[in-house]
Amino acid sequence: MALDRFGRKIHYLRISLTDHCNLRCIYCMPEDMTFRPNSEMLQDDEILLLARLFADLGFDKIRLTGGEPTVRANIVEIVRGIAATPGINSISMTTNGVLLAKLAGPLAAAGLERVNVSLDTLDPAKFKRMTRWGKLEDVWKGILAAEQAGLTPLKLNAVVVRGYNEEDTLDLVRLTLDHPWQVRFIEMMPFAGATAIQVQQRVTGAEIQAHIEQALGPMEVANGGELDGEARMLHVPGAKGQVGFISSVSVPFCSSCTRARLTADGLLRTCLLREHEINLLKPLRAGATLEDLRKLLLDAIWEKPWGHGLAEGEIPMNRVMSEIGG
Ligand code: 5AD
Ligand code: SF4
Repeated sequence: MALDRFGRKIHYLRISLTDHCNLRCIYCMPEDMTFRPNSEMLQDDEILLLARLFADLGFDKIRLTGGEPTVRANIVEIVRGIAATPGINSISMTTNGVLLAKLAGPLAAAGLERVNVSLDTLDPAKFKRMTRWGKLEDVWKGILAAEQAGLTPLKLNAVVVRGYNEEDTLDLVRLTLDHPWQVRFIEMMPFAGATAIQVQQRVTGAEIQAHIEQALGPMEVANGGELDGEARMLHVPGAKGQVGFISSVSVPFCSSCTRARLTADGLLRTCLLREHEINLLKPLRAGATLEDLRKLLLDAIWEKPWGHGLAEGEIPMNRVMSEIGG
């Protein structure tokens, strides 16, 4: 079992499969983003080897992220390999949904259990403005395909940016009236690449909730008052779905954090919002034994930072969001 020095059991691994993306969301990366060469990335067999190693240390839950995980070559095969790894009993993906219409079926057949799809607005023009390159229709088809393929419960992630989509939160919440979906509002976190927007145009979870309740009436506590992952859960009375608030900036959930992250270039990042990283790719390619790697991982996890320093103005600047995978 992998414990940190504060007694947190770390058993949830988020693997970024690529830093590439077929969109350019304004709060994530600059339009002229440059990417790393493929040779610097974890190759398929290296990902599967590391997944096995983490599973041996008690990791049982894996989420695939990016960039955009579905643009990675062999994505279906990678999912199949991870799903077949002994000890992994939950495998999910965070995706922008653009390619899901085509991939939801094959991914589900390969063992993927659930997807979270990013969706910030239901207005095609605003969707384009926020993603720069995206077509809402593609994502909507992807969402329906995911549901059809049984990649449920479906979660929709909305990042709210002042001046862009505060009003759109209402239509997103209205989706939950008829669909058993979880619509989650995520506070923007600051990284390199889009820091000005991320800091200056952030809308807090409390503000978003107040806006929703003013228009649609008070929501009720859902999920027995328990967090779902990191989300505080509510629902509109009578709705089929739920509304979640992930307020990592204004209400940190660091004390209950169970996560570690593997970047696409093979670094272990033990806190999303701290720059510290441990290189796994280098020793792996230099011929480290499984025992060496195991020790490296356990030591790194032991040293996992307690929490982030956003309140003190410490912003992680060594990577953009899409290189870590959220
Ligand atoms: N802060 C918070 N969430 C972000 N995402 C992308 N950039 C940021 C940011 N700066 C979201 C995406 C996606 C998930 C991977 O993270 O919308 O849902
Ligand atoms: Fe791509 Fe997701 Fe970043 Fe948007 S938020 S540019 S979809 S990685």
